Amino acid sequence: MRKVIHGLVLVILSTGTIFAQPRQLELSKPKDPIDIASTMWGIFFEDINFAADGGIYAELIKNRSFEFAQPRMGWTEIRPEHSTSQTLIINRGTEFITNPRFLRLHCREDSTSFILVNEGFRGIGIQADETYNFSMLARVSTPGIMTLNLRLVDSNGVLLGESAITQWPKDWQKVNATIQARSTCPKGKLQLCWTGQGTVDMDMISLFPTHTWFGRPNGLRSDLVQKLADLKPGFIRFPGGCIVEGRDLANRYQWKKTVGPIEERTVMINRWNNEFKHQDAPDYFQSFGLGFYEYFQLAEDLGAEPLPIVNCGMACQFNTGEVVPAEDLDQYIQDALDLIEFANGSATNTSWGRLRATMGHPQPFRLKMIGIGNEQWEDQYFERYAAMAKAIKTKYPEIRLIGSSGPFRAGEWFDKAWTAFDTMPVDFIDEHYYSPPEWFLKNANRYDTYNRTGPLVFAGEYAGHDKSGSEEMSRNTWLSALSEAAFMTGLERNADVVRMASYAPLLAHMDAWQWRPDLLWFDNLNTYITPNYLVQKIFANYKGHQVLNLMENGAALSGQTHLYASAVLDTLWGEIYLKLVNTIDAPQEVKINHAQSYKGAKVVHVTRLHHAALEAYNSTTQPVNIQPEETTVRMDLRMQTLILAPRSLTLIRFKQNK
Ligand code: AHR
Repeated sequence: MRKVIHGLVLVILSTGTIFAQPRQLELSKPKDPIDIASTMWGIFFEDINFAADGGIYAELIKNRSFEFAQPRMGWTEIRPEHSTSQTLIINRGTEFITNPRFLRLHCREDSTSFILVNEGFRGIGIQADETYNFSMLARVSTPGIMTLNLRLVDSNGVLLGESAITQWPKDWQKVNATIQARSTCPKGKLQLCWTGQGTVDMDMISLFPTHTWFGRPNGLRSDLVQKLADLKPGFIRFPGGCIVEGRDLANRYQWKKTVGPIEERTVMINRWNNEFKHQDAPDYFQSFGLGFYEYFQLAEDLGAEPLPIVNCGMACQFNTGEVVPAEDLDQYIQDALDLIEFANGSATNTSWGRLRATMGHPQPFRLKMIGIGNEQWEDQYFERYAAMAKAIKTKYPEIRLIGSSGPFRAGEWFDKAWTAFDTMPVDFIDEHYYSPPEWFLKNANRYDTYNRTGPLVFAGEYAGHDKSGSEEMSRNTWLSALSEAAFMTGLERNADVVRMASYAPLLAHMDAWQWRPDLLWFDNLNTYITPNYLVQKIFANYKGHQVLNLMENGAALSGQTHLYASAVLDTLWGEIYLKLVNTIDAPQEVKINHAQSYKGAKVVHVTRLHHAALEAYNSTTQPVNIQPEETTVRMDLRMQTLILAPRSLTLIRFKQNK
């Protein structure tokens, strides 16, 4: 909602503040300028909550290569009555070790169809007028007489679009067709209706919308990527999270298995498949169609620094806690070194750089940093970290390294990590905090006292978990978002220490999530913005280049009397951005006193995010329950008061005087 107000008026009209006088805030430049890293606000991507397969990866067919533990999962068969037609799952074993299984159909009746149905990821989202690209690897024993009718149908079997394939190869080959959808359906299905007698082998059965991000084949869902692009993230961390570690070492993320032709990428169970009883997802596997090449490409598209996290020879310490013996760590070290070569190596003189070029990107991806391990702790981690860091820094001294401080924001493991990193090469320490909103409100000054000469901080995973209410899992409530906003003013004030921060997790499918809260929700057709997303967007879109002081009585505003504040200067646009968080259920009146260089009446843009109810959230039925309001006024900030709405985040933007 945008309001334009002319003349000298209050920005936000309200009455009844709890303070008798407006609070006097002082805006000034610090003696020594503090620059804000371009990476300050980023995103954390993990394939949790169907974020990749069934989410941002636009493939619509679940279990396209029959490699799930139950090879027919996602598929059903509709046979004609008395049919003797039959399907078999064939395993080629070592002949095709990365993708051994395919489906063989013996069609024994001529005239009636044998129908294979794929259910998609909690249904297939079908958009009216969209063209869908079908493909599969096939070989047919009797190429002349078999016909495949492809039918997109809704949940009642009503036809939404169709196509046919009649020409078949005798040996494995890709066959293609397009289907034009007539109507929209959030939970459709794809039917493969075979007629004619013969034997057909099928693998990599695939359906993509034409309109993927940048129209790429094997591409990403453009509505979801657009929402990420709108955040203007400074970095993208991938592929997680615990998924890096795996439940055991065999289940760890191995980037080399996620690059090259998609039919050669080995499908693996997703570690979130059966992690949580309350949100079991037996059909959650990783196809790696979104693999490391695509992650780097996404980072480039978003203008974000790529930040891969690699396994350091340790499985998740909350699960098996398996570790590789120190003497066998070489493979993990080599994987990390090869990853840097894959990202940055010459397209002609290095083998991994050549693979990158073959995949379509001869130019380097300009990788500058890498994380060693996700949430690890204790000596088994420090020993493995030290060996990996030494090898990486020896070969690539310019690569900046990130070490883990474990899963908790304080305590023995956390303290041990910070001490251990005193004697190891590390550039950033990754801190994680999933905490109640009250913790965020109380700790906006967390970094005020951090050592200015030690390693820098990467606030790699955080979210306010608001467990109030009757639901078992936290929602993305306004309270959680408001408390994160308050805390983020503290991160911004301390941008000399905190160089990167990312909310986690990023994405969640409405019908297939395991973990809540999450930054951005989606179903098969739509995306749903959370207040937490809106907070991230305000900070990231207005991150500026230099920190300014915004104080009251000489002290930073970190929650004393319910006000939090930070200020930055955008040196490119010559603009000043103030972020003010009022956490009480009453308006607060402030005056901004500032040096001569800011004086005079000027155009002031105000973005306000607020809701009277702390338990409010956005939902499918109320998707904009919490949404920003924009106002533009002409005013002198020193002479006139700003009234901050109850329970609000307010962004104030104005030009600095020349
Ligand atoms: O963000 C969800 C999980 O939380 C991550 O995978 C893990 O690093 C953390 O425990």
